[in-house]
Amino acid sequence: MTTQTIKVGICGLGTVGQGVIALLSEGGDVLSNRVGGTIELVHVATRTPKPEVDTLGARDSRDVFDVARDPDVDVLIELIGGTTVAKDLVVEALNHGKHVVTANKALLADHGEELFALAESKGVALRFEAAVAGGIPVIEAVKTSLAGNHVSSVAGIINGTGNFILTEMAAKGREFSDVLAEAQALGYAEADPTFDVDGTDAAQKLVLLSSLAFGARIDANAPFKQGVDSVAPADIGYARELGYRIKHLGIAKRENDALQLRVHPTLIPEAKAIAQVDGVLNAVMINASGVGELLLVGPGAGSRPTASAVMADVVSVARSIASGEQPSIHSMGVGFSAMSQLTIADINEVSSAWYLRLDAEDKPGVMASLTQCLSQHGIGIESLIQKPESAALAKVPVILMTDEAPTRAIEQAIADIEALPSVGGPVTCLRVENF
Ligand code: HSE
Repeated sequence: MTTQTIKVGICGLGTVGQGVIALLSEGGDVLSNRVGGTIELVHVATRTPKPEVDTLGARDSRDVFDVARDPDVDVLIELIGGTTVAKDLVVEALNHGKHVVTANKALLADHGEELFALAESKGVALRFEAAVAGGIPVIEAVKTSLAGNHVSSVAGIINGTGNFILTEMAAKGREFSDVLAEAQALGYAEADPTFDVDGTDAAQKLVLLSSLAFGARIDANAPFKQGVDSVAPADIGYARELGYRIKHLGIAKRENDALQLRVHPTLIPEAKAIAQVDGVLNAVMINASGVGELLLVGPGAGSRPTASAVMADVVSVARSIASGEQPSIHSMGVGFSAMSQLTIADINEVSSAWYLRLDAEDKPGVMASLTQCLSQHGIGIESLIQKPESAALAKVPVILMTDEAPTRAIEQAIADIEALPSVGGPVTCLRVENF
């Protein structure tokens, strides 16, 4: 019996590209049996030569577009990152009738609309399991396994670097910048880690995840963003005293016919399973009409976990080709034209409970004035901690947990608090989700 050979080309031999080659070379008969054919790496392209990488006898180019134009290549794996050359490359590959597998969340968040439509019009697949939550097969889970459900919310730790930083700060008291440097060395962080730190990376993943979960076209700039760098070591400690952990979450929640989209540090009750997800692990919690609450946990970044997700797409496409079928061209699980537009909730109107930390003079009447600033904006206090007076400090830390209130109201209350003569400096403000 002859078996079909599915030929793949890889553009980019960084952390993930090398992981994909490792999994391909380890695949052996198990992989061939699953595909019903053979996957052969026929072409790799890197802008700078990587002689140290064994490319399994594949042709080697300096120009990534050579792979897109190579008539031998059935599936192009885009791992160069960025949104400029990567976009031109994917367009070129799709125009040449190649199926494309990418790990590039920035590219799809910014240009998904154009690229998904182009893939459909060309009758080829554009797959992106590796773009969200590293090794967790969450794209396939939402697109296929939960297809019979209506999703009401998705909330996740979807940036491994940020979770690694928060975990190391909490467990070992390490400095933010020191842990970030380690995350870069371990291959978790983006080439420019700004996106890991300021929430952009998580926002891009949230856009993809919620587009799938809600069947909607979502603009890359739609999510509200607050970075992981807004968490101070003191907040991690106070949150623990109050029975909470701080996690940087991406949240998409359907409420009152609008979709909330937000990325921010969040206090979560420590008893919740997602609060226990530490290190580079990611977790995605989905609430859906049939299954109820689901929590998927796994490595969110790194060479082999991300390569595992790339291989899931490669195998899926190769399997269809090997069995003589057309791989599904509906990247989002539905025809692109069938995707709806949803109203995105105004962040000013989104309510949650709040954690506030400020420094205030330890004298009679101060607590009453803080309470008044909150109550005049309709905000109740759930709990309050005032740290014992220290002779060395003119002011003492005060930590407040409030009832639910809209963002606009808490911001107005904070402006009033900061204007009090007995309060020094800015108020730290973090959202609380009790799920
Ligand atoms: N920089 C990303 C992260 C890589 O830390 O999650 C995986 O997308």
